[in-house]
Amino acid sequence: MEPRLPSLDDLIIAFDRGLRTVFAPAQSVRPTPGEGLPEAGMSDQERALAAALMRVNHSGEICAQALYQGQALTARSQRAKSALEQAAQEETEHLAWTERRIEELGGRKSLLNPLWYAGSFAVGAAGGLLGDRWNLGFLAETERQVVAHLEGHLGRLPAADGKSRAIVGKMKEDEARHATSAVGHGAAQLPEPAKLGMRLSSKVMTEIAFWI
Ligand SMILES: [Fe+2]
Ligand SMILES: [Fe+2]
Repeated sequence: MEPRLPSLDDLIIAFDRGLRTVFAPAQSVRPTPGEGLPEAGMSDQERALAAALMRVNHSGEICAQALYQGQALTARSQRAKSALEQAAQEETEHLAWTERRIEELGGRKSLLNPLWYAGSFAVGAAGGLLGDRWNLGFLAETERQVVAHLEGHLGRLPAADGKSRAIVGKMKEDEARHATSAVGHGAAQLPEPAKLGMRLSSKVMTEIAFWI
């Protein structure tokens, strides 16, 4: 099957979505996990650590949005396209939750979010050109790696910070479901070097977003 090339309209819509993702506040339909929990007493150092980790997670969600929008732009079948758009929709809630938590902790979002978005969008669009099985395989592997990453954050977040922990715990649950759904839609198993490449590139992003 020929790769599906996006129309000018598709590109304009994608550009508009990108701007909104990076610059406008995200909205959540579901309540923020841990909303009812009291704010824990933490030292300045603990708060700063929690804010930095939540900044990393927020940038991760910016990347997830961009990947899915990029993939949906070039995905061939309507079925894969709607699975991707559905996933992107759910990631918007993660974006809203992490954004809100960063504010509560007195932190700030990554200054490099436009760059993370652009890079991930390009990777997603290129993935989409490889065909739906690979496209979904890439989605499934991304989600699995995010689950492992979030698991790591549950080990690093201050034990007292129940609010951040509730958000990360719920996100982890959602991402695992996204991986299962991609497999259900016929995701291919990616070759090991591709998985390794993905791990390395997300490591670069997470290390930089911790600080900037
Ligand atoms: Fe997410
Ligand atoms: Fe996800």
